[in-house]
Amino acid sequence: MWDMEISYGANVADDGELRLCGDLNGKRAIELGVSSPANAVVMALQGAKAIAVDSDPKAITGLRAAAERAEVSVECHEGDLADLGFATSASVDLVVSRGSVYFWDDLNAAFRETARVLRPGGMAFIGGGFGNAELRDRIVPAMAERKPGWEDFYHANMSRETTDRLRQASSGIDGVACQVHDDDSGVWVVMKRGEIP
Ligand SMILES: C[S@@+](CC[C@H](N)C(=O)[O-])C[C@H]1O[C@@H](n2cnc3c(N)ncnc32)[C@H](O)[C@@H]1O
Repeated sequence: MWDMEISYGANVADDGELRLCGDLNGKRAIELGVSSPANAVVMALQGAKAIAVDSDPKAITGLRAAAERAEVSVECHEGDLADLGFATSASVDLVVSRGSVYFWDDLNAAFRETARVLRPGGMAFIGGGFGNAELRDRIVPAMAERKPGWEDFYHANMSRETTDRLRQASSGIDGVACQVHDDDSGVWVVMKRGEIP
């Protein structure tokens, strides 16, 4: 059964509680990097014209199957999320990306492309994390033991330095306000075409 709320990750309050995304009925919403379970399907269940982008064909196949099971339609694009050429500028109300930003090669291009497609008032929530410090401190060593090289990935892509890179890449983009929220639960870039209250 689908949880009807957009998820920001396991062990983190979802959008049913946080109410960041608003009423999605009739809105155009993109998920960048398919999450599991897929937020794109949840967006479609909430009445959005949902779109998903992922470079991994398996992620797209899984998403198509999930959308079929949920009996909703999701427009799927297999490709790099730094190129949203299928969307005209200022045509999208909401962009959500959970747990994917750590893998992005070109943060500058991805953030500028996200900003380009947001319509006035449109918002993006891009980030991820472990939910809390205790879980992070348990999961990081456990993963390092299970997967060779994972600790290097963690330090390169999920540490405080990553937050600095996110801050840099999301700053100074024309027409959008950006904030980076960083705490023990994770790190999130919040972008709005217009002012963030
Ligand atoms: C690890 S998964 C996120 C799912 C995560 N486990 C969750 O549910 O929170 C990240 C996804 O982002 C996609 N991805 C990473 N970089 C990408 C890029 N530059 N363009 C498109 N998709 C990308 C990957 O293919 C993958 O499907």
